[in-house]
Amino acid sequence: MIGRKNIGRASPLLLVLITLGFFFATYNLLTLVLQYTGSSSGDGSELSYDPITRMPNEARKLGKSSPKYHVALTATDAPYSQWQCRIMYYWYKKMKDMPGSDMGKFTRVLHSGKPDNLMNEIPTFVVDPLPEGLDRGYIVLNRPWAFVQWLEKATIEEDYVLMAEPDHIFANPLPNLAHGDNPAGFPFFYIKPTEHEKIIRKFYPEEKGPVTDVDPIGNSPVIIKKALLEDISPTWVNVSLRMKDDPETDKAFGWVLEMYAYAVASALHGVRHILRKDFMLQPPWDLEVGKRFIIHYTYGCDYNMKGELTYGKIGEWRFDKRSYLSGPPPRNLSLPPPGVPESVVRLVKMVNEATANIPGWDSVKNA
Ligand SMILES: *[C@@H]1O[C@H](CO)[C@@H](O)[C@H](O)[C@H]1NC(C)=O
Ligand SMILES: *[C@@H]1O[C@H](CO)[C@@H](O)[C@H](O)[C@H]1NC(C)=O
Repeated sequence: MIGRKNIGRASPLLLVLITLGFFFATYNLLTLVLQYTGSSSGDGSELSYDPITRMPNEARKLGKSSPKYHVALTATDAPYSQWQCRIMYYWYKKMKDMPGSDMGKFTRVLHSGKPDNLMNEIPTFVVDPLPEGLDRGYIVLNRPWAFVQWLEKATIEEDYVLMAEPDHIFANPLPNLAHGDNPAGFPFFYIKPTEHEKIIRKFYPEEKGPVTDVDPIGNSPVIIKKALLEDISPTWVNVSLRMKDDPETDKAFGWVLEMYAYAVASALHGVRHILRKDFMLQPPWDLEVGKRFIIHYTYGCDYNMKGELTYGKIGEWRFDKRSYLSGPPPRNLSLPPPGVPESVVRLVKMVNEATANIPGWDSVKNA
């Protein structure tokens, strides 16, 4: 019979296909399991492979290990803050639903006390700035106070919060790096609590524990349980104001005072952060994006046409957010010359992609 003959002929091929299929299925499952256990053991968490479903991805979906986090971007209505927020939000939208992302909803926490012209473009919650004069002209002191108000008044679905800043660009889908009550933070090389023991002790008394309890971080980027942030935020406001009021502390910490204030406030609540170097990269110092999650473009990138860094000296080619204090950068910025690190090229390409696709990019100039 023809049918039989065909089956007979097809069977060796079929066998090979079945074997291959079985091999790949096993291989894929193994890879998944390895990735899963790998990522859990890598940062010391207690994640476990579900013995009943035997499906690590199922376990993830149930939200046992990686519940979603809310992206909270603190910002002002200044044009300088606005254009960065628009780029930030553009990349949030692109990354949100990609595999590996645990992003939930997004809120720009606008601490200017009144709505601005981006209310329809970016989900925004308006909070008050500190009462007149209390910020001592140091605008970032408004951040902790913004979190206190937002957490108290807003309805937030997610159990975790990512504290983000306007000059952050999501370069890879960001999972929830926190584990249970351990938030995740980025270790900044210039935040060194142990080198400022005398000052830290003014706010973190000896009976609380060693100075090494104070993590070398700022409040952003941090992914933290919402309930913990609700506890820490009022203390963070208090510690920032007291630090600002103490001339010795103000002088020693300068523009990173509010970062130290968060580090101290969280230590006062007994909260220790998982330090994730891969949370963020900072061009031009970090040369490649790789698997890191957030590009932080706080440093100017200056190069000559040979592709050599001329840091501190205005380069023939440059990208520096501070060149655009009063309005957005134009669309289609020129790409850096050959030889410039991949991280810088990527940054400019990502800025260009966002500005090319955000409707009315050039029209929003003033708040
Ligand atoms: C901070 O907290 C301390 C102790 O609870 C309190 O005495 C102080 O008045 C607070 N300071 C500010 C600026 O809120
Ligand atoms: C962007 O600028 C380059 C020159 O730097 C030009 O060749 C290109 O056509 C421009 N692209 C758009 C979309 O304007």
